[in-house]
Amino acid sequence: MAFVSDELLNEISMANDIVDYASSFMQLKKSGRSYMACCPFHNEKTPSFHINRDKQLFHCFGCGASGNFIQLVMRLEGLDFQDAVRQMAERAGITIPENGARQSTELTRRKERIIEMNKFAARFFYDTLIDADKGRAGREYFSARKLSKKTIIKFGLGYAPDSAGSLTDFLKSKGYTAEQIVEAGLAVTRNGGVIDKFRGRVMFPIINARGKVIGFGGRILGSDKLPDGRRLAKYLNSPETPVFDKGSNLFALNIAKSSNEKDIILCEGYMDVITVHQAGISNCVATLGTAITENQAKLMLRYGNEILICYDMDEAGTKAALRAIDVIASVGGKSRVIRITGAKDPDEFITKYGVSGFRSAIDKAMPSTEFRISLIKRSYDLNDTDGKIKFVEEAAKVFAGLSDPVEVEAYIKSTAADTGISEQSIFGKYKEIKGRTYRPSSMRTKEEFKRRELNRINSGKPPEERVTNTVLEAEKRLLSLMSKSRRLCRKASGIMKPEEFSDDVYVKLARIMYEKTEAGEQLEAASVINEFSGDRRAENAAGAVFFNREEYSDEEKTLYDLIYTIKLSKLEAKIKAANDPREIGELLKQKSSLARERGEWSGKI
Ligand code: GTP
Ligand code: MN
Repeated sequence: MAFVSDELLNEISMANDIVDYASSFMQLKKSGRSYMACCPFHNEKTPSFHINRDKQLFHCFGCGASGNFIQLVMRLEGLDFQDAVRQMAERAGITIPENGARQSTELTRRKERIIEMNKFAARFFYDTLIDADKGRAGREYFSARKLSKKTIIKFGLGYAPDSAGSLTDFLKSKGYTAEQIVEAGLAVTRNGGVIDKFRGRVMFPIINARGKVIGFGGRILGSDKLPDGRRLAKYLNSPETPVFDKGSNLFALNIAKSSNEKDIILCEGYMDVITVHQAGISNCVATLGTAITENQAKLMLRYGNEILICYDMDEAGTKAALRAIDVIASVGGKSRVIRITGAKDPDEFITKYGVSGFRSAIDKAMPSTEFRISLIKRSYDLNDTDGKIKFVEEAAKVFAGLSDPVEVEAYIKSTAADTGISEQSIFGKYKEIKGRTYRPSSMRTKEEFKRRELNRINSGKPPEERVTNTVLEAEKRLLSLMSKSRRLCRKASGIMKPEEFSDDVYVKLARIMYEKTEAGEQLEAASVINEFSGDRRAENAAGAVFFNREEYSDEEKTLYDLIYTIKLSKLEAKIKAANDPREIGELLKQKSSLARERGEWSGKI
């Protein structure tokens, strides 16, 4: 049994309204009956992402992403189907009936259990921290790092005692098994037994935007440098679990998301973030001990206009900042760099120069292009002719990656002033490099997506079964036309079998539409597309069929024309591939009878 009925799903979708929902993720522009934006699923500068409010569907004419309202929620928020439905029901104030409704999948149950255990663990670490005896070492550490009681509570910080199994025992007393505790990343197997993963560390719970504890970071109490020169792992993070995806979450986003600041500050370390928040600046987050990903960049850009990168000033930090700039730009975002001169990290900077010092560093944050140029400049001697030439070469490469011509001109002007090389020469260099830079794969054109689809469908098929673009387009238009009414669908069902469509998605789509028509049900776009939930490619293909409905003056004639085109092309492909004269003769007979049959189609019901 389905988790919710089509009717309820439809009600949830209508009550939320896809346009209203989407507008918090993208800049929507109204255009006729539809709404347009730059696609959130591929990198583009002119909008090809369309939303149809009447049908509650989305479709990108660039990358082909397509689907219904719930599928949009799933993709934008990285949720599974049930979570997306629940969240949207909640958003609209609709209650999902419990009768048989909670047919939660095995995975959902596991996820819920891990979240529950993490919550118990966070509570346990906090309780240990405030315990007079057991928490002393942790409290002393935080107090040495100048964290207030209020900050500790705000971030739910804690302490993991230096013992083998206190958390494991606690969780067992709550009814969890050793395997479940290991699965949650809270314990590890050691010598056939199970021991706590975090021991003798101060604990930083990692909480997602929905307020759930998804993992932990734990820091040793002292220095990570041993007297003999070796280093300890300063931080230990939870392993990846079904709820903890390090590349798609950020530390303190649960707090930063409701900040009133217009931008988001990105730091490297948990302690940096906490110090910044304690200083009264609430829009600060950090990655989870790994390099920034596109998902994280998108996540930040959902809550801030620009990302202000505030990394350590050493070589590693500078490298990481350059990488962050690229990743942010690759998803269409803008960034600037906060320079914390005179301190090794933001934490130390605030301790040394106070909140006012940090605020003025934020105000002076350097546009990312200027930052990149300043680094390049540092590595060449501009008093030397050769140095100047190399500098201009490198700078022109950076300019070639910019999309705003005004920005390009401004930087060329200042580079000319810096080097004494004329603007025209620098511009020439820029044009030369720009001419040979190819577009990244994320900017693939519509044609390339089409070609890929065709390649996928045809791969591994013998020549006589391969389809041309004309046939594929005809099949798609036919399905779109069928989706318009049960009358048209019934007519098609008499003459075109589902298996005659070339792609498995289209075969299934035809079958569903025929069955619904037969049963006297409506061909509701959103509910038909739901049958494809979970398979991105199928969602896209099915969504596009419903989105791309065209108007025809004679729908019935068009329907027959399309079916004829499809059948004829397929026969011709077979004729072309055949060698045996008898087989060819047979196929030619089929071809002429097809032409004859065609005249009879309109008489059929
Ligand atoms: P403090 O030294 O306590 O000030 O920590 P910090 O938060 O300033 O950390 P630092 O700048 O040294 O490192 C930045 C981030 O990298 C940390 O917050 C961790 O997420 C991660 N990190 C640092 N050291 C380790 C390590 O030994 N192992 C792992 N997995 N991550 C680390
Ligand atoms: Mn630090």
